[in-house]
Amino acid sequence: MKVLTDDQVKAFNRDGYLLVRGNFSNEEIELLGRASREDKAMDQSAAAVDDGKGHPVRLSAWNHPGDGIYGMFARCRRVVDAVEQLLEDEVYHYHSKMILKDARTGGAWAWHQDYGYWYQNGCLFPDLVSVMTAVDRATRQNGCLEVLRGSHKMGRINHILSGEQAGAAMEQVNEAVKRLELVYCELEPGDSLYFHSNTLHRSAQNNSEFPRWTLISCYNARHNDPYKDSHHPRYTPLAKVDDSEVLRVARERFSGNGSGGVDFVDFKKIDKSAKSLSAPSET
Ligand code: SIN
Ligand code: MN
Repeated sequence: MKVLTDDQVKAFNRDGYLLVRGNFSNEEIELLGRASREDKAMDQSAAAVDDGKGHPVRLSAWNHPGDGIYGMFARCRRVVDAVEQLLEDEVYHYHSKMILKDARTGGAWAWHQDYGYWYQNGCLFPDLVSVMTAVDRATRQNGCLEVLRGSHKMGRINHILSGEQAGAAMEQVNEAVKRLELVYCELEPGDSLYFHSNTLHRSAQNNSEFPRWTLISCYNARHNDPYKDSHHPRYTPLAKVDDSEVLRVARERFSGNGSGGVDFVDFKKIDKSAKSLSAPSET
């Protein structure tokens, strides 16, 4: 189903990102925030990577969306139909992650393209989209996402391991910063940012009193089924759910019937032998 206007699709193709305000309602996002903050398994599975300046970058990830509250956010039509419009094909769930950028301690993310990593996973084309949904308000003070407008048109840049994080080669990034507009993506809870896998992005440390948690669900086009196995799935049909399922399942979670219903990635087990780019931040 067509959920984005032609102008929205055009804007995504021009800028490498599209901001959809109020993609999720206050109640939906409050329940997601509550479920994730209470989720001990999420907390315990979180990988913490040093950002090179003494602060940890924390995230939890899962490959299959499941039937619980997280799955409804990733499988609902408003999101999946939109991504299918942007990628012009059926898509499947590549993985989701919660970025746990905590107050005062949350680390910075270096400039990178998601395809900088996913290329290593057997995806031949950069036909993947990430959907970042704000759980907390994200501002310049608490380290909101920053993107370089139009950088997806540069193609994939080399990614280099520096400390524990892998990032895009700074030779190209420094030049791109001179020519492209840097956009601070300030989000209200429930806003979603759709961005292309070659869009250069980063975020600063959170030195504020306010947490900045965000859910990111990533999708791959069916025609881009990876040619080899990796720590993220090859094509696996995605069962879409009606938008009303988000609230229904989220409420059920708090009436004692539901659970997160996902298997978190164990970052210690990710195969590091195949490549030099293997820091846990490279989901
Ligand atoms: C961020 O949350 O600032 C970036 C996360 C990512 O690139 O996956
Ligand atoms: Mn990223």
